[in-house]
Amino acid sequence: MTKKEISLTINGTEHELEVEPRKLLVHAIREDLDLTGTHIGCDTGNCGACTVYMDGQAVKSCLTFAVQADGSEITTVEGMEDHPDAGMGESDLHPIQEGFREMHGLQCGYCTPGMIMSARALLEENPDPTEEEIRESISGNLCRCTGYQNIVKAIQYAADVMNGREPPESPVEHGEAAEPEAASDGGTPMCEADDCCMDVDTDFEPPGGDHK
Ligand code: FES
Ligand code: FES
Repeated sequence: MTKKEISLTINGTEHELEVEPRKLLVHAIREDLDLTGTHIGCDTGNCGACTVYMDGQAVKSCLTFAVQADGSEITTVEGMEDHPDAGMGESDLHPIQEGFREMHGLQCGYCTPGMIMSARALLEENPDPTEEEIRESISGNLCRCTGYQNIVKAIQYAADVMNGREPPESPVEHGEAAEPEAASDGGTPMCEADDCCMDVDTDFEPPGGDHK
């Protein structure tokens, strides 16, 4: 298939790419530019894990062909730390990222990059949203872990910081939601809940032999 030359400015850096017309933007971002912070959950526009900030809007990059984004300015989650608002809070992070960390707005983290980009689009357009407006803005982003409560609090935290208000105390720092201990092998941290969804039996063998 004939390839087409496109130019994408991602996180402030211009990239010239040759892509097939059928290539999705999410695949160009992840595979051609190695920016794997943008996730793929469904490839059908339902989950929002692939959301990026493109030309002032939150866009699901699995519903956009790379050629449609030619000439666009895109921010992915990797670019949030370089945003002018980064460092407004207690860390070098963007207040939205800090809000997710401080308010325990993630568990497995799969939805988080897309949530952060949807929150960014909201706060650029509406710097002091109501809870209802926050919930509406993330209605295209699915989270299978958190029940959304702490995601809403994370975005409210960011709005507080960005509007010069004192954000609420972090339940993470103050022990209401204990931070998970890092796994001893340096791998995925495990939580300590009795019904932890990550507490899988790694020795389990499925009945009927070795399924490859
Ligand atoms: S991967 Fe794009 S919406 Fe799910
Ligand atoms: S934190 Fe796991 S999907 Fe949202």
